[in-house]
Amino acid sequence: MALAALSTAFSFLKVMMNMKQLVATGQAGDGREKALLDHVVKTAEKDNPLSVLNVMDAYAKASGWLMNIGDDKGPILDMALEKYNPRVVLELGTLCGYSAVRIASQLHKEGSKILSFEMSAENCNIARQIIEHAGLSSKVDVVEGKFNERIDVAKKFLEEMNSPYFDFVFLDHWKDRYMPDYLLLKENALVGNGSGICADNMGPIIGPADFRKYVKTHPEELETSEYKSHAEYLWWLPDSVTVSTFKLSTQ
Ligand SMILES: C[S@@+](CC[C@H](N)C(=O)[O-])C[C@H]1O[C@@H](n2cnc3c(N)ncnc32)[C@H](O)[C@@H]1O
Repeated sequence: MALAALSTAFSFLKVMMNMKQLVATGQAGDGREKALLDHVVKTAEKDNPLSVLNVMDAYAKASGWLMNIGDDKGPILDMALEKYNPRVVLELGTLCGYSAVRIASQLHKEGSKILSFEMSAENCNIARQIIEHAGLSSKVDVVEGKFNERIDVAKKFLEEMNSPYFDFVFLDHWKDRYMPDYLLLKENALVGNGSGICADNMGPIIGPADFRKYVKTHPEELETSEYKSHAEYLWWLPDSVTVSTFKLSTQ
């Protein structure tokens, strides 16, 4: 057990030491994302989202640490989904599709769907295949590109979904983009009164200091609960998830 935790920590540190590569490409640089896909296809039960998530969690602990929201913070996301019961969801940061599978498997409304942005073409390709293996392709559109450069796609998706704005947004891309992309969501009316906004990696050690401060200092705009946990697959590194309700100013 202690040996397994040590190996996960080592795998995490390996990624951190290659941070420049991670930030530029969205990948760890040693092929672990593609190896994950092969492992999922080989070992997870087809059309079974829970089996896919379990295999992804086990892989991230034993074979190669990954930035999935993971099995400790995942239940916070589940709780938020239960609270908002969304039909139209936006995710920023798909990676290999862990959170997209987690979210999609909990969308109960007729015709509900997620639009998920991912800047890395390789990650998009992997995520689409993992989502397909989980049997959830009809519920998830993975879009390649940076969200701020592809807002037109989000607007078109809302038109197709016949929805004025997203009911629920999951922020889990690079941390320096939380604040500017939240402002874009607001400016473009992609969130509306009552939209849920769930943000991963909200500190205290890792995370977006500016967005964290904004959330804390704007309770009239973002009614927020903070849930303390620890970073994915790393019990020794504190982390938190916030769940906010967006409130449209009536003034
Ligand atoms: C923390 S991972 C996402 C984890 C995923 N949500 C999960 O829990 O399974 C962050 C991902 O965001 C992507 N990313 C970073 N900045 C982005 C941006 N501006 N637009 C779209 N994707 C971005 C990275 O390539 C990376 O794959």
